[in-house]
Formats: sequence, C-alpha cells, structure tokens
Amino acid sequence: MMQITGKTKIVGVIGDPIEHSRSPQMHNAAFAELGINYVYVPFRIHPDALPAAIEGFKAINVVGLNVTIPHKQAVIPFLDEISREVELTGAVNTLTFENGRIKGDNTDGLGFLEGMRETGLELPHGESALVIGAGGSARAVIVALTSIGLETIFVANRTKSKAVKLAEDLSDTSGTAIHGIGLDDPQLADRVNRAALVVNTASVGMDISKPPLIHAEWLRPQTAVYDIVYTPPETRLLSVAAERGCHTIQGLSMLVYQGAIAFEKWTHVTPPVKTMKDALQQALY
Ligand code: ATR
Repeated sequence: MMQITGKTKIVGVIGDPIEHSRSPQMHNAAFAELGINYVYVPFRIHPDALPAAIEGFKAINVVGLNVTIPHKQAVIPFLDEISREVELTGAVNTLTFENGRIKGDNTDGLGFLEGMRETGLELPHGESALVIGAGGSARAVIVALTSIGLETIFVANRTKSKAVKLAEDLSDTSGTAIHGIGLDDPQLADRVNRAALVVNTASVGMDISKPPLIHAEWLRPQTAVYDIVYTPPETRLLSVAAERGCHTIQGLSMLVYQGAIAFEKWTHVTPPVKTMKDALQQALY
C-alpha cells in the first residue's frame, strides 16, 4: 500500500457486515500499481447510523464510496443526484462526492456489459436473451441489456410472480419486450434454445452440489452463457455450457468492471483492470 500522507484521498465501501468485501484488495492494488495517492477503506455502518455517517463522510472530504447491503436503497434519500441506472434499478453501488454534493450511480449493469465485451463477444442485437432470477442483480442486468438493442428478454424465476413484476417494472423503459416466466414453464426449453445469451443471476449457482437451473441439452453452441455468480469461478452452469461448445463468461468480470468504472469516476484515471482482476482472484480463490 502507498504511504499515507497529508495528501492521501479517501475512498471506501459502506455495508453491514463488511468484513467479507474484497473491494479493498482490488482498489488498493490498483492505486499501488498506478502510484496514485488514494486509500480504499471498508466502513461497517449500522443502518441506524447511516444519516450520521453520510454527514461525516462529507465533513471529512471522502472522495467516493461503494455501497453494499443493507444500504443500497436506504442511501438514496441522502443524494443530490442519481443516474438513470439508479432510477431504474432503485439501488446505488457507487457514490461520488464533489463540491459538497453527492451523486449516486449503479455501475453493476455497465460492469456486466464490459465483462461480456472483454471476452471478445459481440453484444447480441435484435435477438433474445434469457435471464434466470428476479432479484436485485437480475434487475441491474436487465436494465443494462435493455440498452443494447435486443428484441426480447425473458426473465425466468422460481417464483414466477417476481419475474412478471420485474418485467412489468422495466417494460416501458426501452424498445425491448420483457416477459416474466416461471422456471417450470413448459416453454422454458424453447426460450433457452432460441436465446443468443443466457444469464444466471440466481445465487443457487454457488452450490456446486446443485445442478444448473436449466438443462444443458437446451443450449445451442451459438448461445453465449454468462453466470454472474463468481464463487466458484466456473459454476456448473458454465462447465456444462462449455461442454456444449457455448461461449462462456465468468461472473468475476462483472465484479472487476463494476469496480473499475467506480475507480474511474473517483480518480479520473484509466483503471488498471488486469491488476484489479489479479488482486480479486488472489483474495477470492
Ligand atoms: P440478488 O438481489 O443478489 O439478486 P436475491 O434477491 O436473493 O439476490 O435473488 C436471488 C434469486 O435467486 C431469486 O431470483 C431466487 O428465486 P426466488 O425469487 O424464487 O426466491 C433465486 N434462487 C435462489 N435460490 C434458488 C433455488 N434453489 N432455485 C431457484 N432459484 C433460486
């Protein structure tokens, strides 16, 4: 880590708990690589203390913060400005403090797209994508996917009502049609088979004793498969997709790029993405 001096700028992450966060390793490695005078600090903030903490961060001239559970929605009333992504997802993961004002962004969706681009995949146009899961991560992914010119997005979830609600919430925000279905829908196999892109956002992928939520035989080799779950690095869904000849994308990319985009907002310097990825890999695996 850089030596802390009178000129060191402070960034960090707020959450509760926060001990599990690997963002400090990722960002501090990037500052060290570039030799810029910043430090990234984890702050455990109890929900009751959030208003005082925000005032405090302003008072001590913190430059930027990442925001994680349980503050992603709760922080919004304290912000002076929010991005379109925050309006659509209802969640913030990055704060930027400038001239006494706080701007809230959500870099998860752009990070998701950058993670896909990094693997050399041309983003699909005029085709369909299928997203598994209907929680907060699925919402960020779908908001991002509505910006790339897909014809249709299917949201498939164990609890169908949540998929339908999510599809309704986001349907009028772009030219992409969004439909919510259950994981037990008889048409699921066909939806998967026709998709140019299948994305898993359901945390169940972390458990390698459980089979993927879709059957490998449904996948065509032309379909790209992205699992945003990053532990393990290759989930069972990704291994069966690779066996089918599909282009696969690991969730670690999204984690790296959501951080890299935040890094650039705070420092106005191009982030050293490879250093950030190496640091995360070392911290996680
Ligand atoms: P996040 O906000 O991180 O996306 P979440 O809101 O907890 O997390 O969402 C988890 C997603 O994984 C949900 O879509 C959940 O399905 P339900 O809405 O039916 O709960 C899905 N999920 C979790 N465990 C699952 C399992 N065993 N089988 C199928 N889906 C599962």
